[in-house]
Amino acid sequence: MSELIIEGSRRLEGEIKLQGAKNSILPILASCIMCKGECIIHNCPNISDVDATIKILNHLGCKTNFENGTIIIDSSEVFKSTIPEFLMREMRSSIIFLGSLISTMGSAKLSLPGGCEIGPRPIDLHLDGLRQMGLTINESHGILKCTAKSKLRGCNISLSFPSVGATENLILAAVLAKGTTVITNAAKEPEIMDLINFLNKCGAKIKCFEGSTIIINGVSSLHSAEHTVMPDRIVAITYMSAAAVTAGSIILRNISEDIISSAVPIFEEAGCIIKFSNSDSLKIDCPSRPYFNRLIRTMPYPGFPTDAQPPVMAMTTIADGRSMFVENIFPNRYKHVGELLRLGADIKVEDKVAIVDGVKRLSGAKVKATDLRGAAALVVAGLAAEGITTITGLNYLDRGYEKIEENLISIGANVKRT
Ligand code: EPZ
Repeated sequence: MSELIIEGSRRLEGEIKLQGAKNSILPILASCIMCKGECIIHNCPNISDVDATIKILNHLGCKTNFENGTIIIDSSEVFKSTIPEFLMREMRSSIIFLGSLISTMGSAKLSLPGGCEIGPRPIDLHLDGLRQMGLTINESHGILKCTAKSKLRGCNISLSFPSVGATENLILAAVLAKGTTVITNAAKEPEIMDLINFLNKCGAKIKCFEGSTIIINGVSSLHSAEHTVMPDRIVAITYMSAAAVTAGSIILRNISEDIISSAVPIFEEAGCIIKFSNSDSLKIDCPSRPYFNRLIRTMPYPGFPTDAQPPVMAMTTIADGRSMFVENIFPNRYKHVGELLRLGADIKVEDKVAIVDGVKRLSGAKVKATDLRGAAALVVAGLAAEGITTITGLNYLDRGYEKIEENLISIGANVKRT
């Protein structure tokens, strides 16, 4: 089993170009099966979730070519509407193919995406909205058989929670539906805006309005397009946390202020100085020890992102002060805490609340990752810790972080993968 071995407490300094956003490329790739011709997508991250999505695209009949950050998808010969269980189980967000398969093939058969390491992940909001559009859904033994007698029809859908996945699936179903679909209380994460920008380039008619309303006027077909995926804001926040725990100074290229605006005040209050320049990069200079005394609630965008909670928590473990986290999106998203305690952190958890009392130093230990962002938290803590930290469960890290050890070594970290 490969391990990441970190010799910590080395100051990080240098520059990193940010990868493309995992949570944007996945729905964009799923939507490509609806576009006639070849789609060309740039800044596609080389991560295992993209590999899993490419397997599904190839299984459905797409031709794909992925080289040097650009992926070309030719979906002119899509002929299947079934995704086998083993492919669905590889990655939870494969459920997003439901909307695009229905729009393309008029039917879909796929397994329910199981829960994952961060807690139960129901899809009731996805299915309720699709039923409202006229989809017949037969669910048995974890298999969904879905058919649309004729074209789906546009309608008004009000989401009880601004679910990212449900919003994306309903957009994919609505772009080729008959008539107009209005989604209220929709999610408005930047990754959803990136998907909408791509689909509008392919000829879709999607508009977003103040107050989380998305209006989609159905069109008869979509053509291919070329698109560059937005940068990954969660990866950016992970590297900023790494800089903060090592009193570092790093530049992140290919990032704009608007997509991480909810995180910047947290780093500034911790004593970091953040400067944005030329609207595509930021520089963060960090104090010898971050200061923390605040409450962080995870919320839908533009609130503080739940995916940034684990790496930022790792930063607060060595901060001067007490911080409190309230995890409102995935209440069980504290699996990384037990491992951080092994490194000497002082954290108490009660339901969705975690209280972190900063300690002067962490010390290296053997730790195990149990989910993607939890793995990122262990990397950040390992960079802070004195001595050697050994991390296993790297399959989780590789799901969302492209060449993380190369990037860290390039800014002065002592990291190696066995
Ligand atoms: C997306 O997951 C992201 N994944 C997650 O990132 C992210 O944590 C999450 O949005 C929230 O921002 C991708 O984009 C691929 P949701 P998703 O539907 O779509 C409940 C990472 O680390 N809910 O917004 O699954 C659900 O249980 C991953 O990169 C229902 O109850 O998130 C959860 O509590 C992890 N019924 C909440 O809503 C539904 O039908 C948010 O889920 C759908 C969701």
